[in-house]
Amino acid sequence: MSDAPSDIGFDGDRLLRRVAELARVGASAAGGVTREAWGPADLAARDLVAGWMVEAGLSPEVDAAANLIGRSPGRGGRWLATGSHLDTVVDGGTLDGAYGVVAAIEVAASLHDTGRVMEHGLLVAAFANEEGARGTSGMTGSHACVGLHADTPVEELDDDGVTVGERLRHAGGDPAALDHACWPLADVEAFVELHIEQGPVLDDTGRPIGVVSGITGRQGLDVVVHGAANHAGTTPMHLRHDALAAAAEIVLAIESLPRDGGVRVATCGHVAASPNVRNVIPGQVALGVELRDQDAAVLDAAMLGVDAMLARVAVARGVTVDARWGQRVPPVASDPAVVASVRRVAGAMGLAWIDLPSGAGHDAQIIGRVLPIGMIFVPSVGGVSHSPRERTDAADLLAGAEALLRTLLDLDGRSR
Ligand code: GLV
Ligand code: MN
Ligand code: MN
Repeated sequence: MSDAPSDIGFDGDRLLRRVAELARVGASAAGGVTREAWGPADLAARDLVAGWMVEAGLSPEVDAAANLIGRSPGRGGRWLATGSHLDTVVDGGTLDGAYGVVAAIEVAASLHDTGRVMEHGLLVAAFANEEGARGTSGMTGSHACVGLHADTPVEELDDDGVTVGERLRHAGGDPAALDHACWPLADVEAFVELHIEQGPVLDDTGRPIGVVSGITGRQGLDVVVHGAANHAGTTPMHLRHDALAAAAEIVLAIESLPRDGGVRVATCGHVAASPNVRNVIPGQVALGVELRDQDAAVLDAAMLGVDAMLARVAVARGVTVDARWGQRVPPVASDPAVVASVRRVAGAMGLAWIDLPSGAGHDAQIIGRVLPIGMIFVPSVGGVSHSPRERTDAADLLAGAEALLRTLLDLDGRSR
């Protein structure tokens, strides 16, 4: 293994200070943070982080997909990439994404502060719109970094009726030039993302490090149920076409999929009923659904079952159901060399580790469709995330960041 981080200027206080400073950008009353992609708080966070990149010896630029990318060349022509995202869900936690970006900058700063140059150049990414702001598909930035931007169409409309393309332009991107955001793929050795687990496994088992074996696949579905709005007092029950009652059946059928062995998890997290008035029978309901599983074939099979279920509900309830299968983020396996490196590093640091799959989606999952990837997880207290109650102990945050630094040094030393 290469030099211990303490020999090369790893500054844990700076890391924790920056995590706390970033938490104030878009801080919500509930103690969490709201930095929806491309909004003012997200752009303010990006400016703050760009300044830290400069201090760390990285040259930051906003690419055509509105990602913030900082580069510091190495001795050879190849690159190691790391990073995560700065955007959050509404009233999310302070660590989801931000931690991985701040730690990546700390890796760069550690090298810079001691004048050390790796064989590989270091690329630090703060990806745009990982979360899917305002109902959009998400992972917009990472798709563009590996040339897959066609999978996140810029024509997509968000909940405010604004296209992703317009959002990108507003955030300093260029929707007509997304090709330019693509990394020189043949020259990138690997991408390693450090992230909080967002689930209970590490906290439960008392292990500070998770070596991510792979990332779960995700299939989106948008459903619109068309019934008939009518007077809630005068319309007899047998003559109704209640779109919300039909939607409720759909929500419960989706929820039952994992119980019936269909997929690992299934959620209907977005509902918009119209006209949404107490004394009017709901005329139209939009549902945002997602199914997740490690196996793409399982997702495929579940889709057939869901289509049949929607048709059944439509007939039984006398409504029309329009379904549009949305973004598929395929499951991806971690690269064995990166996995081996993280395990080696955790062992050398004396940190107990465990292999585990990621149930959450990550930018690494998109990068992993094209490049070797790996992820390092640190514990989420109580397994809570996407919530203001999201927490990780400071010691675990520091251990994870140090493990990221050591992993990149390990990979740098092994692959030329
Ligand atoms: C990403 O945040 C996810 O929803 O898994
Ligand atoms: Mn998230
Ligand atoms: Mn995240």
